[in-house]
Amino acid sequence: MVRPARTTFLRHWLTACGLLLPIAAFAASPDATREAKLHGHREEPKPLVIAHRGASGYVPEHTLGAYALAILQGADYIEPDLVMTRDGELVARHDNELGLTTDVSQRPEFADRKRTQMVDGVSLTGWFSEDFTLAELKTLRAIERIPEIRPGNARLDGSLEIPTLQEIIDLVKTMQLSERRRIGLYPETKHPTHFQKLGLAMEKPLVHTLHRNGYAGRHAPVYIQSFEVDNLKTLSRLTQLRLVQLFGGGQPYDQQVRGSDLTYAQMATAEGLRAISRYAAGVGPEKSYVIPRDANGNLGQPTDFVPNAHAAGLKVHPYTFRAENAFLPADLRKGDSPADRGDIEAEMRAYLDAGIDGLFIDQPDIAVRLRAE
Ligand code: G3P
Ligand code: CA
Repeated sequence: MVRPARTTFLRHWLTACGLLLPIAAFAASPDATREAKLHGHREEPKPLVIAHRGASGYVPEHTLGAYALAILQGADYIEPDLVMTRDGELVARHDNELGLTTDVSQRPEFADRKRTQMVDGVSLTGWFSEDFTLAELKTLRAIERIPEIRPGNARLDGSLEIPTLQEIIDLVKTMQLSERRRIGLYPETKHPTHFQKLGLAMEKPLVHTLHRNGYAGRHAPVYIQSFEVDNLKTLSRLTQLRLVQLFGGGQPYDQQVRGSDLTYAQMATAEGLRAISRYAAGVGPEKSYVIPRDANGNLGQPTDFVPNAHAAGLKVHPYTFRAENAFLPADLRKGDSPADRGDIEAEMRAYLDAGIDGLFIDQPDIAVRLRAE
């Protein structure tokens, strides 16, 4: 757990690194062609360590501080979830509703933006990214999503901005120089059908931003992920960058909208995975697709998801590994508090034994350490 003195240190460190300031101005913009040439084929580490929403176990998610710490901890890829602003900018948030992870509810100037609407078939009340310009969003500050589990993170509430995709790319390019290694981007399109209906389709701006920054082709250090199907197929026509089909529960929202009966369960069969391999390079299943928990909440036995995905030529990157008891199988918890750390190493070993190629994790340092062992 981060103690106050450590938090103060972290705040000073982030300031010293320029991460509490707009960072874009400091970053180089390498020539796109030269960058593309740099992206020749190379083996990726296994397991690939994907920093879920940055090092979100230590710093409020989807902030430059969280991404920078993940890189310093040795993550191979950082994961920005992306939503759209009213003026068509891509910014990093897990949800288009901003109340859970920003201080917008404390801002009287935005009180009248609060409203209720349907998002992906669910009624939500709050403040939505599509109602704010980028300039307005930049006045907000990030807050911790789960302060009861991560009180150390919450001590950074109010310190960090919402970053744009371009600012995240600039951070990566700067830190590639200081870290002397390649650092990947693993962006996720959030609510793509919702934004498309608003005239704010995210696929072209995303691809243009990545291509403009020199990320092109199947060997570029980029995976683009989505829970929806049709927007991945659209992306497959716009770019050669690798795509990842995410798996949740029930039905992809775009399939609901179009009246298809395709479910994630069907997509997880050998036949479904072969169909995915026609447009994607990998799959990102919720962990239980790979190893479900038993009736007691303990880790069960691996399914045939990984071998079937591999047979279809797909990489398997399950989500989300989190060190705290609240998120672990019952038999791997340690101590009484949901916020205490349990035996996440044992959980990861079980998944590595099941053959996964990478994993999304909130504490990338733990996965990097385990890989080194
Ligand atoms: O992107 C993989 C994983 O992050 C999907 O879950 O809800 O954390 O975006 P979520
Ligand atoms: Ca995500």
